[in-house]
Amino acid sequence: MGIRFPNNDFKNFEAPMRAEIDLAGLEVVQGEVPKELSGGFFRLIGDRKWPAFVENDIFMLGEDGMASCFYFKDGRVDFKMRYVRTPRFVAEEKAGRALFGEYRNPFTDDPSVAGLSRGTANVTMLAHAGKLFAMKEDSPVIEMDPFTLETIGEYDWGGAVTAKAITAHPKIDPRTGELIFFGYCAAGPATRDVAYYEADAEGRIIHEAWFKAPYTCMVHDIMVTEHYVVFPITPLRHELEWIERREPAFKWDPNEEVYLGVLPRKGNGDQIRWFKGPNQCHGHTVGAFDDGRYIYADNTFSKRSFFHFFPNVDGSAFSPADTMPYMKRIVIDMESEGDHFTEQKLFEYPCELPRIDTRFETMDYNFVTMNLLDVPGQERVGHGFQWVATMDVNGNKPSKIYYAGDDCSIGEPQFVPKSNDAPEGEGYILTVVGKHQEMRSELLILDASDINAPPVATVALPFRLRSTGHGYWYSTSQLLGETNVLGAS
Ligand SMILES: [Fe+2]
Repeated sequence: MGIRFPNNDFKNFEAPMRAEIDLAGLEVVQGEVPKELSGGFFRLIGDRKWPAFVENDIFMLGEDGMASCFYFKDGRVDFKMRYVRTPRFVAEEKAGRALFGEYRNPFTDDPSVAGLSRGTANVTMLAHAGKLFAMKEDSPVIEMDPFTLETIGEYDWGGAVTAKAITAHPKIDPRTGELIFFGYCAAGPATRDVAYYEADAEGRIIHEAWFKAPYTCMVHDIMVTEHYVVFPITPLRHELEWIERREPAFKWDPNEEVYLGVLPRKGNGDQIRWFKGPNQCHGHTVGAFDDGRYIYADNTFSKRSFFHFFPNVDGSAFSPADTMPYMKRIVIDMESEGDHFTEQKLFEYPCELPRIDTRFETMDYNFVTMNLLDVPGQERVGHGFQWVATMDVNGNKPSKIYYAGDDCSIGEPQFVPKSNDAPEGEGYILTVVGKHQEMRSELLILDASDINAPPVATVALPFRLRSTGHGYWYSTSQLLGETNVLGAS
């Protein structure tokens, strides 16, 4: 049987690349790459190796993870791209065809892969304690070599992590270098169990707690402060009976309550307190901090799930506008006897993939950069995200918006400090622009203090890179395990 991809999202600029690449010395077509930047800008791209055999193949969710990295040293940038050789990828490579069926539904798989990890490792890459991981929230993490991108294999922190799935959005506390992470559906597919872990700066598991969520749902991200961890339970629900009936694995429930579960850092499962608020869907955490009494947590929320391809539970229609995420500040009073949180909108335009200067993770902070989905008055011509913005959550500096250009998409912006001790937000923004008509991509290095100034440098790729979610910078010191804190080198 011939290899043929469906004539939908998998065409043109977004067609699978299916190529592993080594390209030393990328062309710098404008400006100069700052010599002080030493490290890697890692991105996971979903890139299906074999066409799906099911109808409902969801763009970016069910695709094989392809790890890519722009390596920076002495003003030169090299590029490398490798498939994450997950157990799933290895099994399908051996068979020469897809063996896994619909997203998060093991009942649709080829019987030959029953019991094998379904993870595609296609969401984020994390460097901690000298190790590099490719992560996806439905499966164990995959360890990779930080410099060659060769896959080492599934990693469970020396057997200390027994959760069946680990988030793709862990947090690092820059005060201590500790890694804070969790897994939902931690006891198996569609279970209510949530596992929470902390690892010390050397990567040893120092805390574990388990609790049950009020209902089973997608829990993509968490909020972490100096003293608390907040788990958002919002009703993009996930039920075993749905997948048994071959229905979509996730459905949006417009009538279910929203819960924020607050645990003290290193607390036990029975210490969790639940706070309720209006029906809405959590997207990503921006930043979070506490002052001992109040928890302040900034997040993107949409009226319903951002994922339009997941239907409403009751089959009702919904407006595309309801999928638009907005940034809001949540406030939780830990001294109150009540069980509700309050919220306030922080930014007027729909936005996603918010990132901060992570040297301020868990702390009071100002600087945010993110992608925008819509800007009134600017016609939407291209594909995906088309704008990057910077803002100050405290309103001390005006927001700025960078437009990628007609028929161009732009990726998640990553902030990199100018030097390891530069003030908050002083440095560069790395982002990849897809030039759809030219069928190629560029890495942009923007001045974080003025993203509308001419780019610090434009680095050209002689090929396209598919749209993806997340990209993370790790300095050489981080990759070597000398520090767990964001830096330039
Ligand atoms: Fe994410």
